[in-house]
Amino acid sequence: MTDATLNLGWERIWREQGSRWELQEPQAEVVALVARLKAEGKRRVHDLGCGLGRHLLLLAAEGFQASGSDISPEAVSRCQRRLAESSLSATVTRSEMDAIPEEDGCLDCVIAWNVVYHATVEGILRTLRGVHGKLKPGGYFFGTFASTSHSSCDLSRREAEEGLAERLEADTYIRPHDTEGDKALVHHYTTEEELRERLLAGFEVLSLEHLSSRWLVLARKGM
Ligand SMILES: C[S@@+](CC[C@H](N)C(=O)[O-])C[C@H]1O[C@@H](n2cnc3c(N)ncnc32)[C@H](O)[C@@H]1O
Repeated sequence: MTDATLNLGWERIWREQGSRWELQEPQAEVVALVARLKAEGKRRVHDLGCGLGRHLLLLAAEGFQASGSDISPEAVSRCQRRLAESSLSATVTRSEMDAIPEEDGCLDCVIAWNVVYHATVEGILRTLRGVHGKLKPGGYFFGTFASTSHSSCDLSRREAEEGLAERLEADTYIRPHDTEGDKALVHHYTTEEELRERLLAGFEVLSLEHLSSRWLVLARKGM
C-alpha cells in the first residue's frame, strides 16, 4: 500500500470512526475456531490484518501466544492501546499482509478475516505463500474472500465500463470515488473454482462455505 492509498479505505475509517468500530464483537465463526484450536492444543496464532483487534483480544484473553499485524498505523496503535487497557499481552506490528512478521514454520494458525482480497491475484498468491511459509506442518489458515456474487463486484464492473471505477484485472477493481467505505482500496472477487484450483492450491481445503457473498475457508498446510 502506498502513502497515497493509506489515506483511503481502512486507515481513514479507523481514524474517523474507530471508536464506533471498537464496539464490534468477534465473529461467531472465529469464536468457534478459537474453541477448536484450544481443544486441539494449538498455541501460536497470528491475526493477519487485525484491524482494531477484536479477534486478537479474544485470542490473548483465551491464553494463546497471539500476534497481529496490519498495514494501518491507526489500527496498530488502537489495537495496542486496547490490549494494554485490558492487561492482555500480544505483539502487534505494522506490516504488509504478504510479510507476516514471524519466523518461518512457527504458527499453528493464521486468521485473516476480510483482509486478503485487498490485493490483485498476484498479491493474494504472495500473501498465501507467506502464510504457508509461516505455518507449522498441519497448521491452519482461516480466512474470508470476497465472492463474485457480491453486489459490489457487479457495481464495480458497471462503473468500470462507464469509466468511474478502475479494472485492474478480471474481477479486481478500485472505486476511487468511494469516500465512505473501503472500495477505494483494491478488491478482488473470486469464484470457488479460482479459490480451490489457484489461490489455495498449496493447502488442503477442509471447508469452504459461501456466506453473505463471501467465502469462508478453513485450510491446512500439509504435514
Ligand atoms: C475489513 S478490515 C478487517 C479487520 C479485522 N480483521 C476484523 O475482522 O475486525 C480489513 C483490515 O485489513 C487491513 N489491510 C488492508 N490491506 C492490507 C495490507 N496490504 N496489508 C495488511 N493489512 C491490510 C486494513 O488496514 C484493515 O484493518
